[in-house]
Amino acid sequence: MPVTWHEATRELHLHNGQLSLVLGVLENGWLGQLHVGAPLDPASSYRHLGPSDFLGFSNRVDEPIGLVVPTPGSGDFRIPALVVEGPDGSTVLDLIYEGHRIIAGKPALDGLPSTYVEDAAEVTTVEIELGDRITGLRAFLTLTIYEDRPILARSIRLTNAGERPLIIRTAMSAALDLPDGPWELLAFSGAWARERHPHRARLLPGRRSLGSLRGATGHQQDPSLFLLRPGTDEVHGEGFALSLVYSGNFLAEAEVGPRGSTRARIGLHPDGFAWRLEPGATFTAPEAVLAWSDAGIEALSDAFHGLYRERLARGAWRNRPRPVLLNSWEGVYFDFDHERLVEMARATADLGAELFVLDDGWFGERDSDDSSLGDWVVDRRKLPGGLAPLAAEVEAMGLQFGLWIEPEMVSPRSRLFAEHPDWAIGVPGRPRTEMRQQLVLDLSRPEVVDHLEAAIADVLSSASIRYVKWDMNRNITEPYGGSLPPDRQGEFFHRYMLGTYELWRRLTTRFPEILFESCAGGGGRFDPGMLAYAPQAWTSDDTDAIERLSIQWGASHVYPLSSMAAHVSAVPNHQVGRVTPLATRAAVAFFGVFGYELDPRTLADAERAEIRAQIAFYREHRDVLQRGRFVRLRSPLGADDAAWMAVAPDRRTAIIAHVRILERPVPPPDRLRLRGLDPELIYRVAPWPGPDGEGVRRGGDLLMAVGLGLEPADPPTGAPRGDFTARIWVLTAG
Ligand code: GLA
Repeated sequence: MPVTWHEATRELHLHNGQLSLVLGVLENGWLGQLHVGAPLDPASSYRHLGPSDFLGFSNRVDEPIGLVVPTPGSGDFRIPALVVEGPDGSTVLDLIYEGHRIIAGKPALDGLPSTYVEDAAEVTTVEIELGDRITGLRAFLTLTIYEDRPILARSIRLTNAGERPLIIRTAMSAALDLPDGPWELLAFSGAWARERHPHRARLLPGRRSLGSLRGATGHQQDPSLFLLRPGTDEVHGEGFALSLVYSGNFLAEAEVGPRGSTRARIGLHPDGFAWRLEPGATFTAPEAVLAWSDAGIEALSDAFHGLYRERLARGAWRNRPRPVLLNSWEGVYFDFDHERLVEMARATADLGAELFVLDDGWFGERDSDDSSLGDWVVDRRKLPGGLAPLAAEVEAMGLQFGLWIEPEMVSPRSRLFAEHPDWAIGVPGRPRTEMRQQLVLDLSRPEVVDHLEAAIADVLSSASIRYVKWDMNRNITEPYGGSLPPDRQGEFFHRYMLGTYELWRRLTTRFPEILFESCAGGGGRFDPGMLAYAPQAWTSDDTDAIERLSIQWGASHVYPLSSMAAHVSAVPNHQVGRVTPLATRAAVAFFGVFGYELDPRTLADAERAEIRAQIAFYREHRDVLQRGRFVRLRSPLGADDAAWMAVAPDRRTAIIAHVRILERPVPPPDRLRLRGLDPELIYRVAPWPGPDGEGVRRGGDLLMAVGLGLEPADPPTGAPRGDFTARIWVLTAG
């Protein structure tokens, strides 16, 4: 049993041999954090790691005491995890340990996505009850430890057992006290078309905050935070990583205190948040996931990849091979009709792809992005027969048919807006800010969710639709819940997310066989919350191979390959104008859920042949490329080259990619040291493309210790030279 309670010392120890969390009830009744991180012997006491005789902060202000649910106003001046305003207007709480219980399995969170188990034996969950006598607030802290992963999941539920309303001002999902420093913070930041670039810097005294106030997690920051000991690299060093299973406003923050200790917290962003908790009511905060390792960043990524691929993603598509698709967007944008789509699909089938996706522009009168969102009826000018005959024709070619939707939005120029102007989010009496000529629907209103469920379900049942790309192309401005009273407007953003999750839940439940992909102008809502409903996401609107190196490299710190959609597009690239070889575009997009985003009718014969070979290659190695272990070898950030690999779980097959970003004259001899292979095995190292059976035999030990020669001679490939060139190798044991 990986949870041990020591009655004599009032210590609770969660342990699985890979990490430990030791909590202790302090003398004043608060819940202290005695240790988090390295696995410790569960039989021992660790009271000495916490304060002795802790009776509150009297005379010991600024002492770096570890607390599990820190609250403000009683001597701990660091960032709090929980701020609740009582009937007297004060936010001082005295949260006393009242007991705990061990729960079989892992309970789901009310209305929120979370990680799960298929068998109760995969985890142990402990629920700790804390109570404040004066307000009647009860906090139920839930901690789940996975048996075979270096992972702890944490969430908190708040109940008002008092007689008067309370206002929740801050409800962090997790707080973490690290007693000694220094730490470096690694975060994944960017912008539209430049998402999730890693940024790493040493924490200095004071706070460093990441977050979003956009109503979505956003392109700008990933809802995660890594704390690393200086010097930690992919395979050495201690690190913690926190990741939030949520898709709306969030805060991830670290603070270094006066004595050098660090507190991190992650959860709903407190700015603008205020939740009125009536007597008897309960509020549930999202789930945070903590990973720990002393074997470098790679182990933290491995932990997230396994958990998110196997126990966050769900449904029929969780384990299924994802089809190779061709998406119409960059190929024809809004400029299509039935005939043109049929021709595109025919050319797609001829390439060996498996799914043809009709992107934006098929509904209302949508010839540009200035109209029709909300009117989910087929544009008969473009598709006179509707979607059903188109899907049938596509299927007759041996392809599946997929469709783009953007349910949460409404165009001011639409029938829906004319009928329900009040359904668009906005503050009465104030102008609404338009972005991309569209407004956001108020999904905090149940009738809007009901309407969208019916409207989208009608579309999805109108034809044989096997895949859906659910987009969300702008953030929320003038936040205001049309059905919320003035004193509940602080709940709006979270209620929007609850409504959105409810819509996802209903549609994914009604259409369990559809493969859903989430999207928000690319990676603007690429987060663990969405992964609970859609097992894959459009990683970025930037399809340039060189830009994608950094985007996919950064995203891979948290997200598995099976979640990252990656497409080959035409050149010059539509986002940055760069011209890269077709082979390089594929070499980068192979590491993810592969597809194309171009007009296949315009391809030259040689390109068509090359793409056929690429699709055949991907389909042959899809298992490794979607579900293999991803190993980051050389970072593209600010570098002249980049490399990564995917390894099959049995380590008998691996695919390696090396991309030369900038060629240099007189290059020094260079060897790419691989990782994750079996040192005992001999591998055939075959460059791809290359004639069948070509390749040299090398030991896994040699490939990892000495490396793969990057000079053209080893193995002999006539490897391309020049900027933006790429090489792929396939390693096969035996
Ligand atoms: C967003 C998506 C694109 C495309 C367009 C359509 O920008 O990220 O892939 O679907 O919308 O309008």
